[in-house]
Amino acid sequence: MTLSTRTPSALAAALRDIQSPVLEQLEAVSQELWRIVSADVPLVQEVQGHLMGMKGKLFRPTLLLLSSAVEERSQPRAVTYAAIVELIHLATLVHDDAVDHSALRRGMPTVNSLFSHQVSVIMGDYLYLRALRELVTLGDLDAMRAITSASNEMTLGEMRQLSAFDALAFTESDYETLICAKTASLFVAACDVGALCGAPRHRDALVRFGERLGMAFQVADDLLDYTEAQEMTGKPSGLDLKEHKVTLPLIAALREMPSSDRARVETLFATKQPDDEAIAEVVGIVRDHGGLDYARRRGDQFAREAEDALAELPDSPARSALVDAIAYVVERRW
Ligand code: IPE
Ligand code: IPE
Ligand code: MG
Ligand code: MG
Repeated sequence: MTLSTRTPSALAAALRDIQSPVLEQLEAVSQELWRIVSADVPLVQEVQGHLMGMKGKLFRPTLLLLSSAVEERSQPRAVTYAAIVELIHLATLVHDDAVDHSALRRGMPTVNSLFSHQVSVIMGDYLYLRALRELVTLGDLDAMRAITSASNEMTLGEMRQLSAFDALAFTESDYETLICAKTASLFVAACDVGALCGAPRHRDALVRFGERLGMAFQVADDLLDYTEAQEMTGKPSGLDLKEHKVTLPLIAALREMPSSDRARVETLFATKQPDDEAIAEVVGIVRDHGGLDYARRRGDQFAREAEDALAELPDSPARSALVDAIAYVVERRW
């Protein structure tokens, strides 16, 4: 499943095709988002205006809606659940950017850079709690369980990342545990709740699919941090190394590199604020020792496992779109 590099416009068209079976519902999701977050507090409105003006790919809502349509007609509440899942995602981004000291998201200034760290903390909480309030209003215990356990796992994942004591001792298995918690868990919840709003007998298959796809998604994201310019991703590149975050390309390359190169990596990790030159040097070392290729292969494996999980689903436009979503995840450039 290794794919050629597609142009940005081909990728944008691929995403539109994936979303086409649920396009109308996705438009309704954007309106639901506004409804759920609306509040009568000027600063909240100001931050919200900023956040709602920076649109992401709506990938998790897309997965939820497609999962809800693999067989039966999905129930109308799927739209609200899709908005809830996107809000939880947005809350984690607001907090993540503050934690990562990141200044750019979706091509726009982050809340922490435009407002402040304090505003990020409170606004992230606000978004989580609006999502939770809506979830409770819907009152479905299975959906509540799926979404709250994903949120809980995501928090533990972020804590795990923050508290990695000796970053360079991080193993591939530690990494997989981490990305499963911080990223795949929300993909799982999206697919699971989608199944609950459509054909619950496909829950297990869709949960498996969501987990593998989420793993592939984060591996791809970690590769983009090494390979893609910020003009493409809309977020700073090289930030993971700058923040001393060890991801799969580096883990794989460390296994292959001689001690002289390892010493360079260690120096970067011992430098509080490494400059662009030091980062570019380590990116080169990681590439030269096969770290990027290794991560691409591992991402492809996760993608294949995601595809296997779809095998038992009946043929439908939604199922085909989920298959196409797999290729999109490994090829994406933002
Ligand atoms: C970014 O997610 C955070 C990760 C889990 C890597 P997306 O790439 O889905 O971000 P948006 O919502 O499209 O901006
Ligand atoms: C994913 O990790 C963040 C969450 C799951 C909240 P990253 O830190 O790699 O995400 P980006 O690169 O900032 O989007
Ligand atoms: Mg981040
Ligand atoms: Mg990243």
